Amino acid sequence: MSFSLHPITPDFAAEIGDINLREPLSEEEFTSLESAFNTYSVLIFPDQKLSEKHQMKFSSRFGPLETSIQKFRKGVKLRLGPKFADVSNLGPDNKLLGEDSERRLFNSGNQLWHTDSSFMEIPAKCSLLYAKSIPPVGGHTEFVDLRAAYDALPKKIKDDIKGLVAEHSIRESRIKIGYKEFTSDEVSSMPPVPQVLVRNHAGSGRRTLYLASHAARIIGLSDKEGKALLAELIEHSTQRRFVYIHRWRANDLVMWDNRNTMHRGKPFEDLRYKRDMRRTTVRDVASTCEQEGIHP
Ligand code: OGA
Ligand code: MN
Repeated sequence: MSFSLHPITPDFAAEIGDINLREPLSEEEFTSLESAFNTYSVLIFPDQKLSEKHQMKFSSRFGPLETSIQKFRKGVKLRLGPKFADVSNLGPDNKLLGEDSERRLFNSGNQLWHTDSSFMEIPAKCSLLYAKSIPPVGGHTEFVDLRAAYDALPKKIKDDIKGLVAEHSIRESRIKIGYKEFTSDEVSSMPPVPQVLVRNHAGSGRRTLYLASHAARIIGLSDKEGKALLAELIEHSTQRRFVYIHRWRANDLVMWDNRNTMHRGKPFEDLRYKRDMRRTTVRDVASTCEQEGIHP
């Protein structure tokens, strides 16, 4: 291993030093990184100077990159290439989004606990978020350890939720923040998708919850029961003891595992300060139901 690994917590977050992500990784470095990523769900690479190309190249070592859903949205002009989710508060002209900006409201959905792309049949394996510039205060990102949260559940609840499947949709999380601008074409092109509630984490073999604010209901339960169970599990998982708070420095690249974590962005004075954050997202190998051998 040619880089250095500095655990921040015993088995959830670690910082990786002595590596330059602009340079191609050797097979050996890649294998060591993957192995670190199986233990630590959040890896922080400080002090990286990355162009869009560098970020895409490094990210795609972990699998195929998603194309941003923004690309398919009507009338949305992109500031970054189509392989990027632009989670900044900037428009295509690099100026701050205004108070009434539709994208500002849409992106505020990232302040709800979620895991990326669980509203897609094959959701995200991992995300890589690069901080090109950050505000002087606020705008942290919180990550929750869903393997630890699963381990800490009482046995009765583990038994009760075994084999359950939830339906996730982007509309659900956006309705929660008051965003209603989806066209009927968008609604029909992004139907709810089934995702297991508990899954095996491929990298470590540990069981994990799989939760997000995109989850709307649980198949086989009434709306009321399903929502109550989802709320209870999210409340359990997001206790402070399971959370790592990342306080960004400019030029941090943070990579997280979407298969066993949730995250959310914290507010900052976004009408006053720039926060230029760019995410690449790696697709998982198959839908969660297929991976668990469940056919809803
Ligand atoms: C994301 C995300 C939160 C943040 O990039 O997927 O949810 O703090 N970001 O920007
Ligand atoms: Mn996200």
